[in-house]
Amino acid sequence: MNPATFSTLLDRIRTKQARVGVIGLGYVGLPLAIELVHAGFTVTGFDVDSHKTDRINAGKSYIPDVPEADIAASVKSGKLSATTDMSQLGAMDAIDICVPTPLRKTKDPDLSYVVLAVEAVAATLRAGQLVILESTTYPGTTDEVVQPMLEDTGLKADVDFFLAFSPERVDPGNQQFTTKNIPKIVGGVGPKSTEAACALYSAAVQHVVPVSSTRVAEMVKLLENTFRAVNIGLVNEIALMCHKMDIGVWEVIDAAKTKPFGFMPFYPGPGLGGHCIPIDPFYLSWKARQNGFECRFIELAGQINSSMPDYVVERVAEALNSVRKSINGSRIHLIGVAYKRDVNDMRESPALDVLEVLRKRGAVLTYSDPWVPHLTYDGHTLSSTDLAAALAHSPDCAVICTDHTGTDYDAVVNSGTLVVDTRNALKNHQGATIFRL
Ligand SMILES: NC(=O)c1ccc[n+]([C@@H]2O[C@H](COP(=O)([O-])OP(=O)(O)OC[C@H]3O[C@@H](n4cnc5c(N)ncnc54)[C@H](O)[C@@H]3O)[C@@H](O)[C@H]2O)c1
Repeated sequence: MNPATFSTLLDRIRTKQARVGVIGLGYVGLPLAIELVHAGFTVTGFDVDSHKTDRINAGKSYIPDVPEADIAASVKSGKLSATTDMSQLGAMDAIDICVPTPLRKTKDPDLSYVVLAVEAVAATLRAGQLVILESTTYPGTTDEVVQPMLEDTGLKADVDFFLAFSPERVDPGNQQFTTKNIPKIVGGVGPKSTEAACALYSAAVQHVVPVSSTRVAEMVKLLENTFRAVNIGLVNEIALMCHKMDIGVWEVIDAAKTKPFGFMPFYPGPGLGGHCIPIDPFYLSWKARQNGFECRFIELAGQINSSMPDYVVERVAEALNSVRKSINGSRIHLIGVAYKRDVNDMRESPALDVLEVLRKRGAVLTYSDPWVPHLTYDGHTLSSTDLAAALAHSPDCAVICTDHTGTDYDAVVNSGTLVVDTRNALKNHQGATIFRL
């Protein structure tokens, strides 16, 4: 290694002369790119989707958490641009990879997006570059998959180029905790890599937490998301149990959370959604299995959480039964379909499973969700209808799947429609027409 390589990189980061590339301009990559621009770096976003790169270059935002004015100002000042041309990666000093890490149908990790992105980086890799993987993945991805691909170029990690893993912990829709103030975990393949990645993030986020290896950093993210998945599984099981025992689970949780230590509230719901909680724990259990270890908690929580849409449908059947109706032939209206409150993200949304099961049982379906104008489930397409107009048509039953801010719940209750509430959105309402999870 030329000893100047590392110090030049650090100098370029410290003086904000470093050019930063962000590969994958989605829910994670775009907010990160903007934070790096705010920190003073010149950022190039890389994406295979030309609609996204065109929109950014036109100063438009497509991620609700990223204000359009921020994009427009960053593009105008020349600090942000976007391209589909991966050959420009060679001009970057630092590269953040934020591409999807989904599951295959078999629930095995699908690293194909990461592999394609790393191939693109390898094609123009040069001494002095810093490469950071941010996509959630199993422990070992960075040193077993990414590092050998990059070292096939003849350059050596932590000597000629620098390689780290830093999990993205952003929570879309969360106004309080954002890319800027969520502490950033950083683990490099060696000390220089950790130092360089910490230097980059320290310029852009408030708190950086170095750890001893890429594997620790990868495992941190999976612990966090497995913790959520398992606790949601537990509280979903408690909800099923409370229903059998005629106890209101929501009141139980509200009272339990008054304990000032040793308890953290999780809430039941129609099932898991989004690109993280339903998927990430299976990255961990897959890798554990490769090492001869069965993750029992993860599998059990997965079973309980994925049974929740069926349970919601059973509650719909119970509600309809109370007025001598069946699901078959009933007009059922879903209120909120995004995977969680105040986002437009439909990935893995449990509402899609609820719709599919209801359709198979003969329901006639409509929905309203101001965040989701259209959706496709099980090969069928629906468009959102205005909630007031839907209620005016007196559906046989409504199902609150997502509790978006601003939904007119008074109107829902006052309409007299039977309603299955999977989110305790009708906490402040009482009545025989309300069926809570
Ligand atoms: N969405 C979240 O809440 C969240 C939170 C924390 C971590 N993560 C993790 O971050 C990663 C990205 O998730 P996301 O939600 O931002 O995904 P996303 O689908 O919103 O964005 C990914 C982007 O990568 C692009 N892309 C795919 N392959 C590419 C390639 N080879 N080269 C360039 N661009 C490519 C896609 O076109 C897309 O724009 C995942 O590993 C996810 O698990 C997501």
